[in-house]
Amino acid sequence: MNSDRHQDSTEITELILKAAENARAEIGVVTKQPTTGKAAKWPIDCNIGPGLEGAIACESKVGYVNGTDGLLSYRGYDIFELCAYSTYEEVSFLLLHGHLPNSTELKEFEQKLVNYRHMNKTLRLLMSFPVEEMNAMAALRMGTIFMRQEFTDIDREQAKPDLSDAISADEDSIGMETKPSGEQRAIYEFKKKKKRRKKKDSDLDDASGLEACYHLIAGVPTITAAITRLRHGLMPFEPSNELSHAANLFYMMNGRRPTAIEERVLDVALILHADHGMNASTFASMVVASTMSDIYFSVGSGIAALNGPLHGGANERVLHTLREVGSPDNAEAWVKKSLAEKKKVPGFGHRVYKTYDPRARILGPLAKFRCLGCKADIQNLISTAEQLEQEVVGSLAQEKKIFPNVDYYSGVVYTRLGIDPSMFTPLFAVSRVAGWTARVLEYMHNNRIFRPRALYTGKFNQVFKQVDER
Ligand code: ACO
Repeated sequence: MNSDRHQDSTEITELILKAAENARAEIGVVTKQPTTGKAAKWPIDCNIGPGLEGAIACESKVGYVNGTDGLLSYRGYDIFELCAYSTYEEVSFLLLHGHLPNSTELKEFEQKLVNYRHMNKTLRLLMSFPVEEMNAMAALRMGTIFMRQEFTDIDREQAKPDLSDAISADEDSIGMETKPSGEQRAIYEFKKKKKRRKKKDSDLDDASGLEACYHLIAGVPTITAAITRLRHGLMPFEPSNELSHAANLFYMMNGRRPTAIEERVLDVALILHADHGMNASTFASMVVASTMSDIYFSVGSGIAALNGPLHGGANERVLHTLREVGSPDNAEAWVKKSLAEKKKVPGFGHRVYKTYDPRARILGPLAKFRCLGCKADIQNLISTAEQLEQEVVGSLAQEKKIFPNVDYYSGVVYTRLGIDPSMFTPLFAVSRVAGWTARVLEYMHNNRIFRPRALYTGKFNQVFKQVDER
């Protein structure tokens, strides 16, 4: 790195450390410290709300979210430190393997990612579809499933998963559903299961093991960049073997090498989105994996879940909202009208965080970084975002604990990186694929098929009538 590049990168580090300091000053004493290192004693008592709120589905060592105090860590490392000092490559290794790589491990891992960037067969398949007319997330999901053909032989008979480990897919057949006598609450019966052998990585087949995870982490960016280009009627760029994960992604999307700042900002954004507890898309991937499907199908489901406007799709909507508000002067009236109409403002609120999302604490300053030199349009976007934040937080923070979430400023950051709003959610997937694969891999070591129940509120003993009697 030349001295200018080094200086630029140092400024970003300082910005992140400042955000960490502000967070610490605001949070003060942490209310709830996690208990670590203790295996849970199942069954676990927990209060479950609608949307599985409060439900504990599994144990995990991958990441920790404390929504009361606004804390996030991956494998025990604070998110601020990871953003300040590491790279996306290090972070995805950390998520998958549980420790930060030493220099040999990092070199090997980086080389694997470089090798897996090249996916001619997948791109050829992708280009046989009208990608330019498709929703970008739909195209990404399709491309991810095509990657499966590139890597796996799971469809061949000898590579089918070992069903001796499987547990019944439909446990309604063993007296577990709410008894049909109108109880208001589900009755839970946990049978003692015979101890299952924990799987090692080497036990997992090609399409579920570590190599497939590396393949997906390296390949989803290639597909995302190809979709960006194809949507503009352009041919995808060949990946570069020299560039970092973030720099190569930027290059494949924009057709030029990023500046040091652009590379670092994109890298930090990727780190920030890499994992986040049992969110909807992670859970979707895990549910699919738990059926002993494979990790390509799992990641495809994660992409599908991420697409929704209540989840990853919010970042694109934030930008449309900011454009609709138009200027900081309109923010107050816009928020009043929106709340009066009981509309949710994209980029605010979170199922877990009832305080400021730590990721937004970094993305906010990144969005504003050196904005004085920006075009008037971008400056207006940033000041509109700041004013809208003040209005929403002013109206909703105290009563409803609504603050900006990760999606609020990510759109502004990506816009400054020259990325089209339609690609914001795919970019989220590019990063989150590390969390999806890490959690799926962890879960597969002691897999049990997911099978919650519904509280049946329907009728019983209905008398069947022939069609002409109805
Ligand atoms: N704007 C205005 N009011 C809101 C918002 C918002 N963005 N979010 C929640 N509220 C209000 C709700 O109207 C509700 O009010 P009420 O009690 O008077 O009915 C209250 O806060 C609780 O909201 P819920 O929807 O019950 O909260 P939940 O935890 O189920 O939902 C969610 C969280 C889906 C993120 C929600 O806040 C939302 O829809 N936000 C906007 C979309 C968004 O930004 N999604 C991205 C989330 S981050 C991510 O997935 C990567």
